[in-house]
Formats: sequence, structure tokens, C-alpha cells
Amino acid sequence: MYLDHADGPDLDRRTKRCDFASRVSESALCLPHMVHQLAESLGWAIDAKDPCTWSHSEDVAHVSRRLALAMGLSRDMAEIVHVAGHLHDMGKIGVPDMVLAKPSGLTSEEWAMVRTHPVVGARIVSPIARMNETGVTGMILSHHERYDGQGYPDGICGENIPLGARVIAVADSLSAMLQRRPYRQGMPFEKAHDEIVRCRETQFDPQVVDAFTMIAQPLEAYFKKGRPSRGADPETPHARQASGCQTMSGNTPRDLQE
Ligand SMILES: [Fe+2]
Ligand SMILES: [Fe+2]
Repeated sequence: MYLDHADGPDLDRRTKRCDFASRVSESALCLPHMVHQLAESLGWAIDAKDPCTWSHSEDVAHVSRRLALAMGLSRDMAEIVHVAGHLHDMGKIGVPDMVLAKPSGLTSEEWAMVRTHPVVGARIVSPIARMNETGVTGMILSHHERYDGQGYPDGICGENIPLGARVIAVADSLSAMLQRRPYRQGMPFEKAHDEIVRCRETQFDPQVVDAFTMIAQPLEAYFKKGRPSRGADPETPHARQASGCQTMSGNTPRDLQE
């Protein structure tokens, strides 16, 4: 299955650079508490597809909110980025489990499937008008864009990428690097930190990376001990055995950006 922007009605209109920092007045930005809870619930649902991605959406939501606040955005704006963080990988519901959990490199056809997920995710939330008005839909659509324009699905660059999507891109990569996946080990926090700094101005917005370095210490503490305790944590040997999430020796070259 491959879906592009031509599929389905109105996605272009619904994601039309509706970034929260422009046009929409701040008082209109508040997402109801129930929307947050629903987003959180859907994030856990998508993570449940793969035992190795336990807590990924929760972590991305948490880190995104911390980054947004460190960048000086208002609490309402940070909350919107947080909700988009919960939902960012929603579109993976359309990617076969055997592709997501494949313990080796992906074929080009499988990569094409994986790369549909930002468009599919944006389309899933787009019937909810508030998601479009607050820019959440656009953040989901653009969370794999790169600052240098080498990302997907549109190859847009710099400030053409919604700010929330630039924030989520850093949070997503941090969480992905720290987690063990079927095809590689998890990285130590320090190594993931250095990788994000190395990709400043290429993959990532420099102002987001600067905010990340400012709050790296509390983020490291969060990943070590402050995470939520819902579901089984594959970091524990028992849960790892039960989940079938294996430790591979050495990193395979499979990209972190999926
Ligand atoms: Fe949350
Ligand atoms: Fe993603």
C-alpha cells in the first residue's frame, strides 16, 4: 500500500502550514483535556504493535513538551506539541507488523511502506477540525522532514517545516536511539546526545538542538528513572524475554528515521 497526498480529500488544505506560532490566537489553542487523553491512549495503542517500541510515543510527547518549554513557547503551545508527540507515529497502523519488527535491513519496497506513515497519520487525525486548526495534523505530516530538506514526505526545509514538527523530530530521534530495536541495541544517552548535536543544522533545527543541550541532564534522568510504568518495560530481562525483543550485538546500518 502506498498513499500519497493525492489520496483522500483535503489533506493539503488541512495541513496548510497551520503552524501554531502564526495566525491562530493563543486563546484558541487550548486542546481539551479529553483530546490529550485520547491522543495518549492512541499513542499507547500504536506502540503496542511492537514490544520494542514500548513507551516511544509517551517519551516523544514528554520530550517534545520539555523542548518546547525550553525554547520559550507558552504552556498551551507546548501542550499542542505534546499531543502531536503522542500521535506522531499514528500512521504506522497502516504498516505491516512484519516490516516494523523486521530484524534486518528493509527492502526498498518496505521502506516505501514505512515512509507512508506521516501522510497516513495526518489523514487519520484530519477529520478532527481542532487537530488541523492547532497545527497537530501538520506536525504529524512533517515529523520526518529534515532541516536541510532531505527528509520526507515533501522534502521541505528550514522554517518551512512546522516548528512543532522540528521539535518532534529531535524528540523522536532521541527516543528511537535510546530504545533497543529488533535490528540494533539501544544507545547510551551520551552517545545519542552527541549524535543529535552532530546533526545540528543538517537533520535538526539548530534552535531545537540548543534547547535540547540546555535540558539534556533532566532528560537523561527521565529516561533513567522517571518514565511512566504502564505496560511491560522491555528493559527488564523478564519483560524482554516475554516480548521477544532481542538484543543484537552491534548496530546494523538500518536508519533510525522511521
Ligand atoms: Fe501526555
Ligand atoms: Fe515516525
